[in-house]
Amino acid sequence: MATSTTIEFRGLTKSFGSVHAVSDLSFTVEPGQVTGFLGPNGAGKTTTLRMLLGLVRPTSGTATFGGVAYRDLASPFETVGTALEASSFHPGRSARGHLAVYAAAAGIRKSRIDEALRLVGLETFADRRVGGYSLGMRQRLGLAFALLGDPRVLVLDEPVNGLDPEGIRWIRTFMREMASQGRTVLVSSHLLSEVQQSVDRLVIISRGRLMYEGTLAGLDTGSRVVVDAPDRDALEAALVQAGADVHVAGGALTVAGLSSAEVGAIAHRADVPLSQLAAENNRLEAAFLEIVGDTGLGGEAERA
Ligand SMILES: Nc1ncnc2c1ncn2[C@@H]1O[C@H](COP(=O)(O)OP(=O)(O)OP(=O)(O)O)[C@@H](O)[C@H]1O
Ligand SMILES: [Mg+2]
Repeated sequence: MATSTTIEFRGLTKSFGSVHAVSDLSFTVEPGQVTGFLGPNGAGKTTTLRMLLGLVRPTSGTATFGGVAYRDLASPFETVGTALEASSFHPGRSARGHLAVYAAAAGIRKSRIDEALRLVGLETFADRRVGGYSLGMRQRLGLAFALLGDPRVLVLDEPVNGLDPEGIRWIRTFMREMASQGRTVLVSSHLLSEVQQSVDRLVIISRGRLMYEGTLAGLDTGSRVVVDAPDRDALEAALVQAGADVHVAGGALTVAGLSSAEVGAIAHRADVPLSQLAAENNRLEAAFLEIVGDTGLGGEAERA
């Protein structure tokens, strides 16, 4: 029987001494979708992915491909392709040379090397020494490596890091294409805006704990309106009287659950001239920051 391409995390936990990097993490990643694995720096993303790939031993819990641990996979290269952070390539070797080494070791047919290089747009640079590659080219080489075995699961740790806007657009399309072919795509990022346009589902962690699992739309807890007036107190009083949920934030009032038009109408009826009225920008990013805690390194691991 073919190994399931559903990734399953069950009670996954990892402590490094007193640092609780990952705590009781349970979620599932389905094929045919791009799943974003989000969390601030230090939240435990890389540690989680390294446990999935058998590079770090869990303190407890499991991370499997349909119940099968990475080290027990019958054909690991054809099951899962990975591009983890800080992949290092020997500077003196060409891209083709690198892939040839891995392909030979894994028993992958030679013709797949050029296929993989073409898939990531590196074919014209295939024989150039990797030492002269730009960061973006290196990222693409990491992806070509991930694709060598034509795997049904892709695990990518921050593949967008360091890419220019064209590179980001390219990788977005690439991940969507991989998912539409029925592959499982799990991609980590510390910035929602980087993956927002390419993911179907989101898993958000902070301090090693699961904070959210669901759709992008589900993260949007309702639109908000930013409004202000020279007489802010009068405006606030009018809104509160109308039953609105009002907060002072960022030097203006934030109103939940009403449209801009409704807020404008309330102010008009109360005869309060406005100095500002707009739908809140970047509602998703704001919701993300609320979930993970928006101070610097807010997602750092807990200590005992
Ligand atoms: N080998 C290790 N020894 C000790 N602590 C570690 C080790 N690996 C990770 N940690 C700690 O575990 C926590 C999670 O780190 P991890 O690299 O998994 O986070 P991350 O979400 O990938 O962050 P980033 O966005 O910065 O890549 C951090 O507090 C980190 O310092
Ligand atoms: Mg990381």
